[in-house]
Amino acid sequence: MADLQAEATRAAGAVEYAALGKSLGELGLVKAAALGERVTVSVELPSPFDRDDLVRRIEQAVRTSCGVREVAVEARLRVQGRAVASDDPIPGVKNFLMVLSGKGGVGKSTTAVNLAAAFARAGAAVGLMDADMYGPSIPLMLGASGRPTSSDGAHIEPLDRFGIKLMSLGFLLEDDKTAVIWRGPMLHGALVQFVQDVSWGKLDYLVVDLPPGTGDVALTLSQKAPTTGAVIVTTPQEVALADVYKSVAMCQKVHIPVLGVIENMGSFVCPHCAHESAIFGQGGGQKVAEFAQAPLLGRVPIDPAVRVSGDGGVPVVLAAADSSVAQAFVAIAARIADVVTRIHYERKGSLAEVKQPIRLPVLR
Ligand SMILES: Nc1ncnc2c1ncn2[C@@H]1O[C@H](COP(=O)(O)OP(=O)(O)OP(=O)(O)O)[C@@H](O)[C@H]1O
Ligand SMILES: [Mg+2]
Repeated sequence: MADLQAEATRAAGAVEYAALGKSLGELGLVKAAALGERVTVSVELPSPFDRDDLVRRIEQAVRTSCGVREVAVEARLRVQGRAVASDDPIPGVKNFLMVLSGKGGVGKSTTAVNLAAAFARAGAAVGLMDADMYGPSIPLMLGASGRPTSSDGAHIEPLDRFGIKLMSLGFLLEDDKTAVIWRGPMLHGALVQFVQDVSWGKLDYLVVDLPPGTGDVALTLSQKAPTTGAVIVTTPQEVALADVYKSVAMCQKVHIPVLGVIENMGSFVCPHCAHESAIFGQGGGQKVAEFAQAPLLGRVPIDPAVRVSGDGGVPVVLAAADSSVAQAFVAIAARIADVVTRIHYERKGSLAEVKQPIRLPVLR
């Protein structure tokens, strides 16, 4: 039996974790146990995506090499997280991710909402912070309304929609036509409150939807709690790029890592003849990615369903999960999860948990 356990450990450990190009064994992500003819493998997943494929490959590898029929794989999500200092206001938040652009109207809010929905649907614990104080879009795009409450008079409870924890200034205004006429210090104060006074709790990813502009909001937030990094959204046309380049340069200046670039509204597929046309030109995402020395995370086509879903309060990732545009968002979220895993792996030199070894289930 000890031999079977050793063989199962070896076989499961040899399975590749593609996002890092290393084996599960090297990364310390699997443990195997054997009882009689039954093998149980416990694997820790750094990403909520591609779970089924990994589980299937482990099962197959162990079954083939051990010659046993009963192989159970137990997968547990454990997303890697930021280094958290003792004064970090959101110590339970593993990854603080900003969605920004510099350019207005390119689809930042749409992207932030759909990424958060994709993470949540995949099983991660997710929050979404609307940092656009002058034009909050999150309440409308997620069909969320109501006032956040406070149980202790000091902290604000975020709202919850589709399993995503939400905070937006929109929840605190009288109605959605009320204008905010704050000057810098008040804006700064509200942003700081959104980080430190909201009970975000334990989250794998806290996605932040940033307003268009120069980047002072990103700077304020990143000074309050270190970010994992920023995702830059652009459209493909040349005229959009100048402002987007500036936002990349801003990130570099203030040491916010650029995780990658998303090209939104790149092409339009005619619903009648399926012909694909590049309405806003081509190549902008790639250019920005090269400038940022970061990967192009993916392209999202123009699809009227995105706007309809956004206006209807259910993001397209949830409203039309099988559509190609929803799948584009999910694929991008999966790539972001992998980039995040890689960043933490390179920083720590390992994926190992500092505390406990993996607890194997008791076999009966
Ligand atoms: N891929 C897409 N296909 C179709 N419509 C889209 C797509 N992406 C965004 N839109 C629509 O474009 C409009 C602008 O998107 P959004 O509000 O997300 O941009 P933004 O960058 O957050 O804007 P702002 O700079 O004002 O915050 C919205 O009506 C949205 O529904
Ligand atoms: Mg927006």
